[in-house]
Amino acid sequence: MELPFAESWKIKMVEPIRKSTRAEREQWLKEAHYNVFQLKSEQVYIDCITDSGTGAMSDRQWAAMMMGDESYAGASSFYRLKETITRITGFDYVIPTHQGRAAENVLFSHLVSAGSIIPGNSHFDTTKGHIESRKATALDCTIDEAKNTQLEIPFKGNVDPKKLEKALAENADKIPFIIVTVTNNTAGGQPVSMQNLREVRAIADKYKKRVILDSARFAENAYFIKMREEGYGKKTIKEIVKEMFSLADGMTMSAKKDGIVNMGGFIATRHEDWYEGAKRFCIPFEGYLTYGGMNGRDMDALAVGLDENTEFDNLDTRIRQVEYLAKRLDEFGIPYQRPVGGHALFVDADRILTEVPKEEFPAQTLTVELYLEAGIRGCEIGYILADRDPVTRENRFGGLDLLRLCIPRRVYTNNHMDVIAVALKNVFDRRKEIKRGVRITWEAELMRHFTVQLERL
Ligand code: F0G
Repeated sequence: MELPFAESWKIKMVEPIRKSTRAEREQWLKEAHYNVFQLKSEQVYIDCITDSGTGAMSDRQWAAMMMGDESYAGASSFYRLKETITRITGFDYVIPTHQGRAAENVLFSHLVSAGSIIPGNSHFDTTKGHIESRKATALDCTIDEAKNTQLEIPFKGNVDPKKLEKALAENADKIPFIIVTVTNNTAGGQPVSMQNLREVRAIADKYKKRVILDSARFAENAYFIKMREEGYGKKTIKEIVKEMFSLADGMTMSAKKDGIVNMGGFIATRHEDWYEGAKRFCIPFEGYLTYGGMNGRDMDALAVGLDENTEFDNLDTRIRQVEYLAKRLDEFGIPYQRPVGGHALFVDADRILTEVPKEEFPAQTLTVELYLEAGIRGCEIGYILADRDPVTRENRFGGLDLLRLCIPRRVYTNNHMDVIAVALKNVFDRRKEIKRGVRITWEAELMRHFTVQLERL
């Protein structure tokens, strides 16, 4: 008999978590104004709000922390991190930052100005925020197929080359660079193929433009290329990663995802002029060049994390766990963005809570129901997150309305996945009885989902 699959690690330290009663959760969520961001973490049993900064570091990462050099300038930790990044990505210039959005802030301060247009595939919120706050435009050129949650294609995160070419043909002078997010978080943690990265490179070369990879989940993207793309099955993750970055000019990185650290980020590039430009903003915004926004010990933990997470076994364990959860949902017929992504499962709330009008926010309602059912915290990636139209101030109901369940790296077991699946099934089974959703009682003008206050109808 073939041996079953099991994790490529064993557990050395644990953190107790506590279940709660439905009555407790009713009370806590009411106090949190039905916004799960306002809950205290001890009120949560299984936390799937994000995979960012929530991973478990390895014994080697913890050991490396003890070697941290906290010198203000020229810390050896920086040089260990820089050597690792250069070896893995091929980029010679490295600037550490405190997290991904800080890398965007520093680099975009140099590259983006009022009137710029930045084409890409579903820019992440903070990326978009750093573009729009500079009175520039984030132009989404993701393939249309990404919007159909039930369509199964291997690289649903791809850039549509036709949309990109059109943007360049019409506005080349306004475009400082192209940004490709790997994996495409907003489309459901969906990968971008090597072929697509090559197509983007060819278009960029034609118009003499540079390409940035928003690389938060670059290793998970490489795993999907290995598993799904012709010609990559026998390559190592590190070889695939090297090839991905060979097609780009630089990267912004939130190290809290595929770096498996709790805090950190960086910019890396092959171009001295980008490095020189970004340097001027790193010092006032983040810190001196050999630590940016990071401690020496965190840079050491990150160097080890980057090496570990560009090995197949680690990624295989991680992504198979997300796939395990997806298979359980398939058993129950619960619809989600297919095929399941690398870091998260995006449940299609619109198709489940069909009785709840969109004005009452079905995905937020499902988020509330799942928390009340079992203390599981997901988050809405839907109409509330979409904010209001800046001109009409109307809600934007044009996109998808999803409940995102992120799986932290190396944190939960498949037993936890079973609890999530069954809790969702219980909500799914009574979906027709859920006829009313939530109403906004207070909201911020921008990025309202973090602080919005709601009432249940
Ligand atoms: N780019 C992508 C693709 C991201 O997913 C994130 C963060 C960032 C940039 C910003 O990085 O948080 O380190 O400043 N995503 C988290 C999430 C917050 O939950 O998806 P950061």
